[in-house]
Amino acid sequence: MFEMLETLPADPILGLATAYREDPSPDKVDLSVGVYRNRAGQTPVMAAVIAAERSLIEQQLTKAYLPPAGAPAFREGIFRLVLGTGAAGLRERSAVIQAPGGCGALRLGAELIQRASPGAVIHLGDPTWPNHGPLLAGGGLALARHPYYDASRHVVDLQPLLAALEQAQEGSLVLLQASSHNPTGADPDRPQWEAILDVVAQRRLVPFFDIAYQGLGDDLDADAWSIRRAAERVPEMLVAVSCSKCFGLYRERTGALIVLGADAGRARAIESQANKAARSMYSMPPGHGALIAERILGDETLATNWRAELAAMAARLRSLRRDFVAAVKATRPDADIDWLAGQRGMFSLLGLKPEAVRELREQHHIYMGLDSRINIAGLSEDNVGRVAELVAPRL
Ligand SMILES: Cc1ncc(COP(=O)(O)O)c(C=O)c1O
Repeated sequence: MFEMLETLPADPILGLATAYREDPSPDKVDLSVGVYRNRAGQTPVMAAVIAAERSLIEQQLTKAYLPPAGAPAFREGIFRLVLGTGAAGLRERSAVIQAPGGCGALRLGAELIQRASPGAVIHLGDPTWPNHGPLLAGGGLALARHPYYDASRHVVDLQPLLAALEQAQEGSLVLLQASSHNPTGADPDRPQWEAILDVVAQRRLVPFFDIAYQGLGDDLDADAWSIRRAAERVPEMLVAVSCSKCFGLYRERTGALIVLGADAGRARAIESQANKAARSMYSMPPGHGALIAERILGDETLATNWRAELAAMAARLRSLRRDFVAAVKATRPDADIDWLAGQRGMFSLLGLKPEAVRELREQHHIYMGLDSRINIAGLSEDNVGRVAELVAPRL
C-alpha cells in the first residue's frame, strides 16, 4: 500500500529547529520557531497555569470524556475573554465549541462552512501564516488570495486589500487575523479595520477571525477589538481561538471555535453540525488544557496573576523591539528600521534577501525563516546587540 509514498522534505520551520538543535555553537540564536521565550531562552509554564494545574490534579476525580462541545465553563470563559464582558447579549446567537488548539478550531470552522456552503471560497491575505491554507483547504474550502502587506513601507497595504475584497463574491469568507499578524507584525489600525468591515458588510462577506496572540500585542481587550467591532457590524462570523500562546498551553492543544449566527435557532443548528463534524475527526476535545484555562478564568486571584504575567510578556516583546531598533541604529544610523518598534506581537519580517538569511545562519548561527520572519521573543537582552550588529549591514 505505501510503496508509492515519497518521503516529504522537512517542514521549513521545523527543519530549522532541528538544524538549530544540532548546531554546537554557543552563540546560536533561534529566531524561527513561534513560541514565547524568556531571557534564558526558555518557554516557561506560566505561574497561574502551574497553580491551576496543581489544584486540578488534586481535585480531579475522573478522566471520563468531556461533552462533545467541550468543557462548559471553559466555553463560557473563552467567549467572554474574546467577545468581552459586554457581549452577554450575543451569547444566545453564538455557538462555542472547544477545539484542539487554534489549528483544530480553524479546521473545524472549515468543516462547518463546508456543510453550510459546499465549495465556499475563503480569501487569505498574502502573506499569512503558512498553515492557514492547508488547514482551510483540508476542510474543503477553495482558497483565494488578496494583498495584505506593503513590504517597502512595512504596513498593511490597505487600498489593494480593499479593492480585492470588493471583487469577492457575496457569501465568500475572509480570513482576518485579529491582532499581532503572523508573519508581518503589521495590523490594521482602527480606521483601517472600519474600512475593511465596511467592505465586508457591503459585499455580505463572512469574516473568519483567527486570534492566536490575544494579550501579547497591546492588551487583552485592545487585541480583540477588531472581533468585537465586527460582531457589532455583521450578522454571521467565525472566530478560531488559540490558547497556545496567551496561556502558554501549546502542547495541551487548547482552543475554541466561536460562531455567531443570525439568531438562537441558527446557533443551535451550528453547534449541532460542528459537534457532528468534530465527531467525524477526533470525537471529543482534549481536557487538560481547557480545564486549566477555565480554572484561571474562573478564579479572581489566578486570573489577576495570569493577566499580569501575560502583560509582562507583552511589555517585554515591545521592549525587545525597541532595543533591537536602537541597536541596529547604533551600528547604522541611516537604517530603515524604526517601523519594527511600532509593530506588535511575536513576529516581523526583516525584509532580508534569502542569501543574507542563509549567511546569517551558516556563518553566524542566527536562525530565521527564509522569508526573514523573526520571532522577537527569540531575541534577548543578552543577544540583541550581536544580532542587530549582524543584521544592520544586510538590511
Ligand atoms: C496565526 C496563527 N493562528 C493559529 C495558530 C494555531 O495555534 P495552535 O494550533 O497551536 O493553538 C498559530 C500558531 O502558531 C498562529 O500563528
